[in-house]
Amino acid sequence: MSQYRAVKGARDIFPDEITSWKHIEGVIHRVAGLYGFREIRTPVFEYTDLFQRGIGATTDIVGKEMFTFRPEPNGRSITLRPEMTAGVMRAFLQKNLSASSPVHKLYYIAELFRKERPQAGRQRQFSQFGAEWLGASSPEAVAEAIGMMMQVFAALGVKGLRLRINTLGDPEDRVRYREALREYLEPYAPDLDELSRERLDKNPLRILDSKNPEIQAVIAGAPKLHDFLGPSALEAFEQVLHYLDEGAILYTIDPLLVRGLDYYCHTAFEVVSPELGAQDAIGGGGRYDGLARELGSKSDIPAVGFAVGMERLLITMEKQGLLQHLEPESPEVYIVLQDHELAGNAVSVCDSLRKSGIRSEMDLCRRSMKAQMREANKMRAAYVLFVGHNEVMSQAYGLKDLRTSEQETLSLQEIIARLAPGNGGNQ
Ligand code: HAM
Repeated sequence: MSQYRAVKGARDIFPDEITSWKHIEGVIHRVAGLYGFREIRTPVFEYTDLFQRGIGATTDIVGKEMFTFRPEPNGRSITLRPEMTAGVMRAFLQKNLSASSPVHKLYYIAELFRKERPQAGRQRQFSQFGAEWLGASSPEAVAEAIGMMMQVFAALGVKGLRLRINTLGDPEDRVRYREALREYLEPYAPDLDELSRERLDKNPLRILDSKNPEIQAVIAGAPKLHDFLGPSALEAFEQVLHYLDEGAILYTIDPLLVRGLDYYCHTAFEVVSPELGAQDAIGGGGRYDGLARELGSKSDIPAVGFAVGMERLLITMEKQGLLQHLEPESPEVYIVLQDHELAGNAVSVCDSLRKSGIRSEMDLCRRSMKAQMREANKMRAAYVLFVGHNEVMSQAYGLKDLRTSEQETLSLQEIIARLAPGNGGNQ
């Protein structure tokens, strides 16, 4: 044991868990392909003002949760990305991608950093998979975004998730509503908890999200956002709901859903998992037509997207027993050596097998034959291949099928012919 520990809020992912990650990532890549997505990878850090402008200076993420530093004493401030949408939009604008095609569909699986208080399902380094539709935010695009997210969950066998959906309308509608809400809440200021009092000035809409029952009671009598929305906003929302109905996607309309990032407009949504306890949001997203302009584009660029927390997805799948059947890849052949003097022969047999695409292992610790056999079984190898003095002399090796215990004597070429991928091997 060492005195060193991983930083609080960050964790190691060991090979057993990697099997689960790879399984999930495989499904994500497959579903993304079905929807015509291409992968994007952006830098882990960006200039801080990208997030200040993009996510919003008054949000919790920007106000409290960013890991920010200055590489040079007088240089520009840099921040470890707390989310991907702002960086993906920055890359899209920087490369002028809209010149090549009106719509770009980009997805990612990426590491993110937020200085939140670590607890179950909430880390300081975590991962998301997400998808962004840049250039389209029609009801069809929004329905496609929600549909794709739900298809990934379905393909992984995840059950019991609940989709909450709301419309935030145009930014202008929201400004009028914000004022009305502030006016309504001001007389209650002394009754509000500290967090809500803080939000009253800067971002009163976030108070709607409060989980505090006393605040919820105050909110119950507040003006309703939907009463401030124009007919086109409501119509677009209705159309999205129609598509969800058509696609048999169940949802709850939640007029109090506002989300913690400022770039959203119109439809916003969140998916909660019953397995997650206090941090129950497994994913969320929405439209963000105004983000491009915030980042310096001359006009709005319609956009919609979502992101799902990988760790929360894993916790949910673990609790639903969806990861138990996953086995790590085992070797096809384990080479058992009679005598360490023959190690050179084993190295070369192993090398030939691997070069032919056959997963092969040999003992690296010079253990006894019995210990090597134990190891082959422990690793769940399909076959053992014996290398002894007679085998080396005759160039014919004993190949034992560990499932049937049948043994045959074959040349290396015959073994390769039998086990190589495409020749009936288990690759
Ligand atoms: P978000 O709601 O901030 O949205 O994060 C999406 C998901 O990331 C959450 O639902 C949760 O599962 C996971 N997550 C967030 N913070 C943590 C944490 N500290 N530890 C573990 N998991 C966490 C966004 O980030 C938007 N960029 C989504 C989006 C994409 N909107 C449009 N396009």
